[in-house]
Amino acid sequence: MRVVRDLPDLTDLMRRCRASGRTVGLVPTMGALHQGHLALVAAARAASDVVVASIFVNPLQFGPNEDLARYPRDEAGDLAKLDAAGCDLVWMPPVEVMYPPGGATRIEVAGPSEGFEGTARPGHFRGVATVCAKLFHQTCADVAVFGEKDWQQLQVIRRMVRDLDMGVRIQGHPTVREEDGLACSSRNQRLSPRERALAPALPRIMRNVLASLQAGAPVTATLDSALVELREAGLVPDYLALVEPESLRAWPEGQAGEARLVAAARLGEVRLLDNMAAILP
Ligand code: PAJ
Repeated sequence: MRVVRDLPDLTDLMRRCRASGRTVGLVPTMGALHQGHLALVAAARAASDVVVASIFVNPLQFGPNEDLARYPRDEAGDLAKLDAAGCDLVWMPPVEVMYPPGGATRIEVAGPSEGFEGTARPGHFRGVATVCAKLFHQTCADVAVFGEKDWQQLQVIRRMVRDLDMGVRIQGHPTVREEDGLACSSRNQRLSPRERALAPALPRIMRNVLASLQAGAPVTATLDSALVELREAGLVPDYLALVEPESLRAWPEGQAGEARLVAAARLGEVRLLDNMAAILP
């Protein structure tokens, strides 16, 4: 596995890959890797000849009140995990390589980036879209694999790729969960043992919502009582909503089909995010 930190080196390697006709699969990450990230690497392995993982803690997607400096970092651990997962190349540029002084271009995706995480974290998706566009171009990826864990992010990336005719296929991968149902996340490390024990209430209550909706219960009343249950379980819900999966617009009451249940809830300092497919009869 090669570790590359400079853009001319990456460009040279990726040109040679393309010249030999090999397809490139990219897994963008911010490091602090867990089973969820490694499942994306396995999916990229199955979908392409050369697997590139990027590790870059992107300052552009952190707000002024979010502690970029405290984002967990474990370079040696991450590299060992990627090597074992069959990754061929790790792209880990320093900030000044990704954002040389004087840069003036940002990508703003409207539509799916509005509401939910877009409201909670102003400017977040602008940072995500901008860095992902750069990563797609830098690596010349044929396919890029993203987790459904960050459902809104996946929709923002798909929208950007369609709108800007980027020649990369975006592949979503189902959320990887711990045994008790909690979605794997680097943020889980920051939960105290007591909070960690409470956290699976989020996916449990969401699964109950899905069962009620599938049985024909009214949407608004079901979500309202789930919000009460979340508070009773010791979480502070930020949102719990049923949306149209691609646009993230509110799902119309009474409409049948496949919707997405999206949720964010605070537990101490940590914001838990989750989402699940919801079938409405
Ligand atoms: P990061 O939070 O490191 O996540 C990298 C990728 O792993 C994302 O596609 C995310 O959805 C996926 N992922 C995280 N937890 C997962 C889980 N439990 N199951 C499946 N996939 C999971 O998301 C980012 O970094 C950044 O915004 C990035 C796209 C790299 C741009 O900076």
